[in-house]
Amino acid sequence: MKKNEILQNILVEKLVFWWKWFARLKSENKDIDGKAIFISGGVIPGSIINVRVLKSRKDFIEAQAQEVIKKSPIEKLHPNNIYGMQAGTARVNIPYDEQLKMKAWQVEESLFHVKKLQPDLEISPIISSPLVDNYRNKIEFSFWKFISAKHEKNEHFNVWFHKQWEFSKIEDFDGTILISELANKIYKEIKDFAKNSWFPVYDQFNGEWFFRHIVIREAFFTKQIMIIFSINHTFSWVQNLDFVKDFFTTLAKKYKEITSIYLSLNNSKADVAIWELELIYGEKFIEEKLLGLTFNISPKSFFQTNSYGAEKLYSEVLSQIDTQELKNFTVLDLYGGTGTIGMVFAPHSKKVISVELVADASKDGKENAMKNGITNMDFVNAKVETFLDDYLKKWEAADLLIIDPPRAGMHPSALPNILTFKTKNIIYVSCNPATLARDLAYILENSDYKIVNVTPVDMFPHTSHIETIVKLERV
Ligand SMILES: C[S@@+](CC[C@H](N)C(=O)[O-])C[C@H]1O[C@@H](n2cnc3c(N)ncnc32)[C@H](O)[C@@H]1O
Repeated sequence: MKKNEILQNILVEKLVFWWKWFARLKSENKDIDGKAIFISGGVIPGSIINVRVLKSRKDFIEAQAQEVIKKSPIEKLHPNNIYGMQAGTARVNIPYDEQLKMKAWQVEESLFHVKKLQPDLEISPIISSPLVDNYRNKIEFSFWKFISAKHEKNEHFNVWFHKQWEFSKIEDFDGTILISELANKIYKEIKDFAKNSWFPVYDQFNGEWFFRHIVIREAFFTKQIMIIFSINHTFSWVQNLDFVKDFFTTLAKKYKEITSIYLSLNNSKADVAIWELELIYGEKFIEEKLLGLTFNISPKSFFQTNSYGAEKLYSEVLSQIDTQELKNFTVLDLYGGTGTIGMVFAPHSKKVISVELVADASKDGKENAMKNGITNMDFVNAKVETFLDDYLKKWEAADLLIIDPPRAGMHPSALPNILTFKTKNIIYVSCNPATLARDLAYILENSDYKIVNVTPVDMFPHTSHIETIVKLERV
């Protein structure tokens, strides 16, 4: 089997670890008939597809989904998906109860090896998202010319979700079921403005030309909207940016919900939306309210992308600990973002220390705490791994650790340190079951902690992403 060879009519059986789909090769050649295929790409189990071979190994084949030949029997066109677009929503045509089953299974599969370390491990029923459609409070679109360096340049004007599967073709689209109707309307106006101007879409291979990204953030509870429009301001045809600024000022007059607009002056080689920011309209941040608390969100700050889901997630995290016990606790809120989880815990705790890498997020956190009258919280702008080293050297104590790392999981040097505190409980909130499984295996192998609860929480309907809360207890 050669690289890039197309294997036809492959029946997708099920989702397995690392977000791969499992299938078996059917061949008249007995030597390879039944060989396992692990497929990447947004496909639906039960569908028959063609795949492109990425690597052929002795016992299995790695492949990329290429084309759907026959739809899966579980596939049902989503009636509300008026955009028809599937970019970023690979599971939109799978009924939501089936999506939930798949995600629960995903967590189960990922924790397979952890289960070997703790055979009595049980997984609680998955918690669903309060909103299944139009739930995202942040979206990032890229103006894009290529699928990949190997493919032909697509000269059409395109707006594309950030880092999409190569499997899907580039398409120009008018909106997505993931964000609110209002955010879709605003996106369409910005896209049309860019499309109708004579400026070209940025070319990521030669680092030239103009339009780069559209970021829209929407606070669901206050209805405030922030726009970040990323352009290559060094593009030689541009005399000044007045035409862009004028457009956005007019847009803000039309939609009173828009309260903050930034330009991202972006000549970075990296495909990142946020570069040098210039506030061109309104406030520096938007305000969101969760569980009765108010949060400032600025462009660089992490904030859970599903506001209603975040309320459910944080309530579930808090419910893991007896609030009577918390009264005397110093809580470490590691990977704290703007300190949202910490602030939910602070009213019940003696003290909370929130540790976060992004300076703007820590700064927002501090202001958020003040805004909410929370006086027992410290915000430390540092890498968790460095913070833990310093904190332990000073012999400072902690009674509860809450860990909510990014998709990459915990830094290897931070893992031994979290065990040194010997707190009764650790709560690990994860957005990536694979790195969660890796970190949990380390904890179980190197300490006397046991997992006492695993609860998957769906914060991202129509996608493969899943949040998981894990409570560990020392035995
Ligand atoms: C999944 S978010 C969680 C944020 C927060 N707990 C919440 O619920 O909003 C992970 C956060 O970790 C931060 N981060 C990433 N690597 C870090 C590191 N090495 N040390 C500290 N913070 C880090 C990111 O900037 C991000 O804000």
